[in-house]
Amino acid sequence: MQYIRVASTDIANTVEPAAALLRNGGIVAFPTETVYGLGADAFNKTAVRRIFAAKGRPPDDPLIVHIRRHWHLDQVFAHTTSLERQLLDKFWPGPLTLIGPKATAIPSIVTAGLADVAVRAPSHPVAIALLDAVAGPVAAPSANRFSYVSATTAQHVVDDLGDSIDAIVDAGPSTAGIESTVVRLRGSVLEVLRHGATTIDAITTAMPDISDVVEITGSTTASPGQLLTHYSPNTATIALAPGSAIDRLELEGSVVLVGYDESVWPETHRFVSLGSRSNLDGVARTLYETLRTVDSSNADTILIELTGASGIGRALDDRIRRAASGRVEG
Ligand code: TXA
Ligand code: MG
Repeated sequence: MQYIRVASTDIANTVEPAAALLRNGGIVAFPTETVYGLGADAFNKTAVRRIFAAKGRPPDDPLIVHIRRHWHLDQVFAHTTSLERQLLDKFWPGPLTLIGPKATAIPSIVTAGLADVAVRAPSHPVAIALLDAVAGPVAAPSANRFSYVSATTAQHVVDDLGDSIDAIVDAGPSTAGIESTVVRLRGSVLEVLRHGATTIDAITTAMPDISDVVEITGSTTASPGQLLTHYSPNTATIALAPGSAIDRLELEGSVVLVGYDESVWPETHRFVSLGSRSNLDGVARTLYETLRTVDSSNADTILIELTGASGIGRALDDRIRRAASGRVEG
């Protein structure tokens, strides 16, 4: 495995060896503004198959194709509507993934056999430089073991995937820290498949022509990757309703409480703060790192409080609920 540390002064030259590996059928982990991705040339079936193997990801869970702004959009989508193009003009590059009809050239292994494909243009300068150098679409899921906590640093990727990948590009921690928002437009109706770093409010505010918003975030038929157990520590994890007291819960063994600066809990248990409720963007940046750290601390149970907030809170609570396999108490 080649470890490539990015020098911010010369990104283009630093990422060239990683781009060469991708062009030649390698699989490479790289930073995006959301989480680290594990990429392969989207047109290379053998390389894409290696992504599924490295992650232990089932073949029915489709990948997001990453492109450089609109440059490769017509290689990925068969066609687009003007409302879709308007949406992408406003939110790309950035943490928004759009589902649309797959172009014939995209191999069906990428979309897990679906007629539609997911595409996004990341805004991270290193991801942009890499896509520029590859000069074609890169299929990339998050660079973590299947169903485990996502990776927001190169070290997380090394811990999870190590020698099963060809290279890792290290550019420090991801800035958003939580995955992209996944949406589809059906005419003027916005379907939300996954809450993420772009809030739905931001989308509807910027796009007055969107007539309605429909939540299909729980649907594994619409989005096969939306499993109830996901982003999950190995330690048994329970989600707590926002602001709930914990004295009535029957807790055995060693318990770690994960909450916010404002949480008021007894000092009988170890407490880790995700930051202040008044800075949920900061909470998003630290959530996965904290879950990984707490998971390796030999606790019997992790209790983690939901934010109960709107905006980015929707995405955070989705991840927290899934980390707890849907178990919510309090
Ligand atoms: O921020 C992100 O989106 C990161 C970075 C690396 O870009 N990627 C990411 O990929 O989170 P992944 O594979 O961990 O999650 C992709 C999600 C899954 O829930 C999957 O089911 C959904 O997107 N998805 C992908 N292709 C789809 C399709 N054709 N139809 C419906 N859902 C799709
Ligand atoms: Mg993932």
